[in-house]
Amino acid sequence: MTQPDTRSVHAGRDDLTALGVHVPPIDLSTTYPLPSVAVGGASYDALALGNGPDGGSLVYQRLWNPNVARLEQALAELEQCEGAVAFGSGMAALTTCLLATVAAGRPHVVGVRPLYGGSDHLLSTGLLGTTVTWTSPGGIAEALQPDTGLVLVETPANPTVELVDIAEVVRLANGVPVLVDNTFATPVLQQPRAQGATLVLHSATKYLGGHGDVMGGLVAADTEWTARLRQVRALTGALLHPLAAYELHRGLQTLPVRVRAQQATAAKVADWLSTHPAVDKVYYPGLPECDPRGLIGRQQAGPGAVLAFTTAGGYDAAARVAASLRLITHAVSLGGVDTLIQHPAGLTHRLVGDEAKPHAGLLRLSIGLEDPDDLTGDLAQAFAQQ
Ligand SMILES: Cc1ncc(COP(=O)(O)O)c(C=O)c1O
Repeated sequence: MTQPDTRSVHAGRDDLTALGVHVPPIDLSTTYPLPSVAVGGASYDALALGNGPDGGSLVYQRLWNPNVARLEQALAELEQCEGAVAFGSGMAALTTCLLATVAAGRPHVVGVRPLYGGSDHLLSTGLLGTTVTWTSPGGIAEALQPDTGLVLVETPANPTVELVDIAEVVRLANGVPVLVDNTFATPVLQQPRAQGATLVLHSATKYLGGHGDVMGGLVAADTEWTARLRQVRALTGALLHPLAAYELHRGLQTLPVRVRAQQATAAKVADWLSTHPAVDKVYYPGLPECDPRGLIGRQQAGPGAVLAFTTAGGYDAAARVAASLRLITHAVSLGGVDTLIQHPAGLTHRLVGDEAKPHAGLLRLSIGLEDPDDLTGDLAQAFAQQ
C-alpha cells in the first residue's frame, strides 16, 4: 500500500487507466436497464440489504451509484476502515447512524459535549426516537444504560476545539460503539478507527470538499456497519448526488496539502492572537494549555486549522469584530480555502441549551490558504475599530 498522500490522489481511481480515462466518468443514471426480472430482483435484494452490486445490475440510484461508490472507497482507505457510506450532508450521515441505532433496539445515546450545535440539537429534541445523556469524557461509564447504543464524541470539538482521548472513550464505553466526528481533524491528521472507534463521521461539506461549494456527509466503518447504514440510506433516501460525489472525490486529492498549509497558518494566527490585548483567551490545540493530555503527536498528527478566541469585551465586542473584518468572511461553516469567522453562541450553536451554550464572547475562526500576515492584518484593523 502506498503512503496516505499518494492514496489521497489515487484512491477510488485505480481502475481508470484500464477504462482508458483520466478522471472518473460521471454516471447520472437514476435507473438502469435490467437483463431480466430474475437478475434485477437478485441485484435489488443484494443492494437493499446494503451489499455491493457484485457484478449485477445497479438497479436504481438510491441503491447504488458508481461516483458515490468511488468516493466511499477513497474515504474508507484514508480512514483505514473496511468501507464508507456517503450522504447528502453531515446531518444526514448522523441521522442515519442514529436511526440504525434505534433500529437495533438501543436508542439511548451518550453525548459528550461540546458537539456541533446541529448534532446537539438533534439529540436534545429526541426527534429520531433517541434519548440522550449528556456528559464529559470522564462521565461516560456512569452515563451508560442497558439500552445505550452509541457514544458520540467530537475531537477536536466544535466550537472550542477541545481534544478528547479517543482510546480512553472507547475503554469507558465498554463495548458500546463509539462514533467520532472527525470533521475538524480529517483523516490527514487523525484516524479514529486506529484508536478503536466504531464509526467515523464527516461533514464532507468542510475540509473534504474544501472549497465551500458542495455539501455531503460520510461515515467510515466496518463491513457490518456500512451494510446497516446503506440499508437505512436506501430506505430514507438520504443520498449524495453523483455530481457532489465527483466534487468531493476531487477534493480528497488536495486534502493533505490544504490541511497542512492551513494548519501552518492557523498556528501563526493563534500565536498572534495570544499576545493581542483585545483577546482574552485563545483556544487552539497547538497551544500547550489546550492539550493537557498531550494528544497532539500521539492521537492527532497536528493541531489543525480551526481555532477560537474570546474577546475582552464579551458579546458586543465579538459581534463588532465579526462585522468589521474585510478580508475574512463573516459566515458559518469551515474547512474551505478561504478564512471564515463566526459567533457560535449566536449562530451554529444557537439552539444548544443554556447549560452548554458557548461563551457569549467566543468567535470561531476557520483558517484558509491566505497569507498569514494578511489575516492578522485584517484582525488587527477589526480590533482597532473597537
Ligand atoms: C463537526 C460537525 N459535524 C457535523 C456537521 C453537520 O454537517 P452538515 O452541515 O454537512 O450537515 C457540522 C456542520 O457544521 C460540523 O461542524
